[in-house]
Amino acid sequence: MKKPTWTNAVVYQIYPRSFCDSNGDGIGDIPGIISKLDYLKDLGIKIIWLSPIYKSPQFDLGYDISDYYEINPEYGTMEDFDRLLEEAKKRDLRIVMDLVANHTSNQHPWFLASLDPSSPYHDYYIWKKGKDSNGKKPPNNWTSNFSGSAWTYVKEIDEWYLHLFAKEQPDLNWHNPKVVEEIEKIIDFYLSKGVYGFRCDVITQIYKESYEDGKGHFPIGRGGEHYLLSEGNHRCLRKLYDDVYVRYEDHLVVGETSGVTPAQGEAMIKNKELDMFFEFDHILHDSYSLVWPKKLNVEGFKNAIFNFQKNVSWNAPYLENHDQRRSIPRYGSEKYPLESGKALAMFLLCLKGTPFIYQGQEIGMRNIPNNNPRKSKDVCIKMLYNILDRFPLLPAIKRKILNQHDRDHARTPMQWDDSVSAGFSSSDKTWLDVNPNYKQINVAIQQDDPNSLLSFYKKLIHLRQQEEVLHEGEFAEVPTKGSLICYRRVLSQKSMLILINLSEKTHTRPASLSKICGKVVFSNYPDSDCTSSLDLRPYEAMLIDLE
Ligand code: GLC
Repeated sequence: MKKPTWTNAVVYQIYPRSFCDSNGDGIGDIPGIISKLDYLKDLGIKIIWLSPIYKSPQFDLGYDISDYYEINPEYGTMEDFDRLLEEAKKRDLRIVMDLVANHTSNQHPWFLASLDPSSPYHDYYIWKKGKDSNGKKPPNNWTSNFSGSAWTYVKEIDEWYLHLFAKEQPDLNWHNPKVVEEIEKIIDFYLSKGVYGFRCDVITQIYKESYEDGKGHFPIGRGGEHYLLSEGNHRCLRKLYDDVYVRYEDHLVVGETSGVTPAQGEAMIKNKELDMFFEFDHILHDSYSLVWPKKLNVEGFKNAIFNFQKNVSWNAPYLENHDQRRSIPRYGSEKYPLESGKALAMFLLCLKGTPFIYQGQEIGMRNIPNNNPRKSKDVCIKMLYNILDRFPLLPAIKRKILNQHDRDHARTPMQWDDSVSAGFSSSDKTWLDVNPNYKQINVAIQQDDPNSLLSFYKKLIHLRQQEEVLHEGEFAEVPTKGSLICYRRVLSQKSMLILINLSEKTHTRPASLSKICGKVVFSNYPDSDCTSSLDLRPYEAMLIDLE
């Protein structure tokens, strides 16, 4: 049997709202995406993942779907989408969609119908009576992943509905076979159109095993032990495979699986629930979950990624996406943006699995400077704002906490050139402001510069695809301490070593690594040499062919 395309591919994530606006309304759209397919092809991309483009009130910017069979009018029409598939096919590019199946929008006709307890749609969602006799207390103490109670009361019918995210995103009831059938119909609809697969949103939370109180006092995601990766969850995912995916030979199903361990993820791959999954451990080694920016702990960051490389048969490594802050200020350095951006690219693109990159990562886009969370377009920040108001916090601290979590940082418009709105839109008013650094950081400047981050990504992606050992080889850790990262990729007699100094300081190689002998085939300094010097300069990274 032919190997799936994803075994030798790099996936590029597009956040459609911010990628390219073709009609000057300040919002990205599908014709805009079509106009950039040649750019992606040239970069060496084979698979594109589109964040949700379905009809949606955009409360969570598309992760709240009101019609799975229609395209959000701001982005275009179903005809535009069909044309995107056609144009992608001409260029041998595959399109993966976002499958948001844990919840719908509260404007979805199913939910509106479910407000009538006698409707068959009532059981499409999770409706419960309140806990106390007068029903004024939620059914349990679960909290939403965006903070606050996970239940909302509807007076007219004296019942509560569950939402693990915002109240505008009611959870579907996966215990109801009709819901499973509906999701299968959606998957089949798009696969039969020629879509290559799905990135499955919060896919480890869909099946709630019980509705008992959750443990602990943590104000976010309390109750998880009653639904995360439940037995029923595994059954549901496997059913989607048996009923639908199995009919499409070459396809890709990647899961968003926050909190998953290597063993749990591997079991899902072996059981054919997913082809690969996104782990969340490596993002915990800097400031993301804390208030104050903290220095990156390189060892923790590296070990988290290595843990999945060693123990999972096929990985989906990533550094950025639409929920994460940008990687250079996060894992690299503003003092060495080009060197560190390139070092991170090498770390990511030499790993085992199918690497995912996020729009703008290839040019080193950054977070919003002096961000004001009050203006945030992120529903999570709007909710957190109200929660934090209940605590006696200094405004500066409150602002810092919100800024740390604001997902707008990753969502500013793509920077194509130095014209109005960075070439993203012909309008000077965009749905989210363009990052003011767009005159220095944009595709046009970097495209003609052989030393740019963009040119580096391009060369490295092509190299990865040509070198069998880089896409097919096994992963082998080479133990190091501190800011040094080292690993090998091995395929029969061939072995390549990746050596990275992820710090602003020069690092002398330890004795164990002093005798590396081979040819430097790729590096981020023009004169990297592994034989004459034992020093690795700030963020120096080399790929060495061990002969
Ligand atoms: C996922 C998405 C995120 C969204 C959430 C709720 O984590 O990546 O953007 O807000 O699910 O759908």
